[in-house]
Amino acid sequence: MQTREEKELVKAVVRVSRYLICIAFICLACIVLTITALFDTGQTTTSHPKVTDNTSSPVSPVVIPPSVETISRAIPADAWKAPDTSAIPGGKAGEMIRYGKELIAHTANYLGPQGSIAHISNGMNCQNCHLDGGSRLFGNNYASFVSSYPKMSNRSGRVEPATERLVECFNRSLGGTSPDTSKKEIQAMMAYLKWIGQGVKKEQKLFGNATEKLAFLDHPADPVRGKQVFTLKCMSCHGKNGEGLLTADKKAYVNPPLWGPHSYNDGAGMYRIINLAGFVKNNMPYGASYQNPQLTDEEAWSVAAYIDSQPRLHRDQHNDWMNLDKKPIDFPFGPYTDKFSEKQHKFGPFKPIAEAQKSQISKNHKL
Ligand code: HEC
Ligand code: HEC
Repeated sequence: MQTREEKELVKAVVRVSRYLICIAFICLACIVLTITALFDTGQTTTSHPKVTDNTSSPVSPVVIPPSVETISRAIPADAWKAPDTSAIPGGKAGEMIRYGKELIAHTANYLGPQGSIAHISNGMNCQNCHLDGGSRLFGNNYASFVSSYPKMSNRSGRVEPATERLVECFNRSLGGTSPDTSKKEIQAMMAYLKWIGQGVKKEQKLFGNATEKLAFLDHPADPVRGKQVFTLKCMSCHGKNGEGLLTADKKAYVNPPLWGPHSYNDGAGMYRIINLAGFVKNNMPYGASYQNPQLTDEEAWSVAAYIDSQPRLHRDQHNDWMNLDKKPIDFPFGPYTDKFSEKQHKFGPFKPIAEAQKSQISKNHKL
């Protein structure tokens, strides 16, 4: 027979063991969760930017702690992929494609202020904004460009040939003038653009086209907050005054300018903050990607607002957007068909403007 004390002791031992088993279970669960989480991040951090070849190659990405959780943003398996450059044909046709690719990657060496062919642009490269030669998802890629032309330009109100679109980027993003469209340079760029967009059908919807359309904020994008983001995450490469960093021979940029006389002018696509915020979210600081963004949406919107509030060259745009209904909602120069101010068209909030435009267009359709 057990004494009363012995019985109590056994009970206590049983109770303690129960607790220990519980704790062991909790620990096991924690270990399993941690391992699963590690596997997840492993999958989303595999993509690294390809740093391209020669002189005007960007510097290697700086490691800046991300201000966003790395949420898995999956890329669909059937997403568009640029054809492999090793598949560029030989002969004359291949030569033109290769030359076009080179002109897009290193525009400044040929057409910049010290270019070998002409001095007609601000020193930026097409590739500064059309990343990896226009092959990057959400990096202003050229996938659907050729298949969509000739098309009605909402900006000019005319049906335009594809070459005209290149001229626009020369005049606005490269703040200069374009070589004559019959010249070898434009023909070579066109050959490359045709090659990269091969197999894409007219009006085919592609994942990763142009820039990501971020969710609209319910308040104006804030340049003051944007300045803080810029100082912390952009200035090290793009310079205190957004002036960029030139190569040692000063012929091209290692890091392109974001504002000032050598950057895109106020007629460029990047002067519209919906484009700029979407570009920055998916590609900047250099090394960020769709799967691995480094900024919250709010940070991307505010840094875009800051950059597009800085001084840059002005382009007379009073002949643009003759059809006001088709004017992009973030085009920061009036007149408009709605009652929102230029300021709201520049910084948002965009939701009410988008809604007003939608109802205006459906009204026009009914007439
Ligand atoms: C400062 C950034 C920037 C630079 C530099 C730039 N572009 Fe662009 N480009 C854009 C943006 C943004 C768009 C699309 C937005 C818009 O304008 O609607 C665009 C659109 C285009 C398109 C139309 C794409 C399509 O699918 O419809 C072509 C083609 C193009 N650019 C070619 C060029 C060429 C060629 C150069 C160099 C001579 C160049 N770009 C330089 C920012 C730039
Ligand atoms: C590690 C250096 C680095 C950092 C940091 C960086 N960038 Fe860039 N940025 C680049 C390079 C290099 C390019 C050109 C990419 C190319 O040519 O392939 C570029 C291109 C750009 C462009 C398009 C070209 C232009 O000059 O308009 C914009 C806009 C831009 N960066 C904005 C930003 C913003 C906003 C930040 C901060 C959130 C940032 N960048 C941080 C290196 C950097």
